[in-house]
Amino acid sequence: MNPIGPVNALYPMPTTLVGATVDGKPNFLTIAHVGILNHGTPQYLSIGLGKVHYSNAGIFENRNFSICLPSEDMMVKTDYCGIMTGKKTDKAVLFDIFYGELKTAPMIRECPVNMELKLHDTLDFKTHDIFIGELVQTYVDYDVMTDGVIDIAKLRPLLFDMASVKYWRLGPSVGKCWNVGKSLKRQKSTNR
Ligand SMILES: Cc1cc2nc3c(=O)[nH]c(=O)nc-3n(C[C@H](O)[C@H](O)[C@H](O)COP(=O)(O)O)c2cc1C
Repeated sequence: MNPIGPVNALYPMPTTLVGATVDGKPNFLTIAHVGILNHGTPQYLSIGLGKVHYSNAGIFENRNFSICLPSEDMMVKTDYCGIMTGKKTDKAVLFDIFYGELKTAPMIRECPVNMELKLHDTLDFKTHDIFIGELVQTYVDYDVMTDGVIDIAKLRPLLFDMASVKYWRLGPSVGKCWNVGKSLKRQKSTNR
């Protein structure tokens, strides 16, 4: 194996639109660096925002934000929100916006899935503010659900890859988790 330096190779990531109220108005920015911090209740998610962005002040002020999942057919609007800053451009006009329990975390009706989070903690990195949110509510278009769960084949998430600097789409499923490994487990136990 060949070392190539500390290159973050954890791509693809889902491309998200993070919503916040800034200066009393809704704003959205494109965020690919979203982390899942635990699996359970409450569920904590993190987002890493460069300190230069307009959105950060609104998250600090209102102590909440949204993580909205666009499908691949929202690629152009999603990219636009990652090019333009709310300092100069009203990006909220692009979308049909709604609010949930937290009242000041704007969400997007065109996004099949929207998550609403209250700010749990922040990490002050040199270049980035890391916002850790507690997931309060998830809003879903039933069209992307199958048997009561979100179906990523229907959602068609917009995937982001830093190496190619391109958006990608999801391929087909290749196996069932916590399941396909059982054949090897059985083989190992019979070899003993
Ligand atoms: C595909 C894509 C992914 C991005 N991911 C991030 C990210 O994870 N963190 C970040 O700080 N900026 C990210 N950006 C850049 C911000 O979305 C962009 O600078 C935006 O204009 C900031 O908006 P604001 O100033 O209105 O807050 C991304 C941009 C694109 C196009």
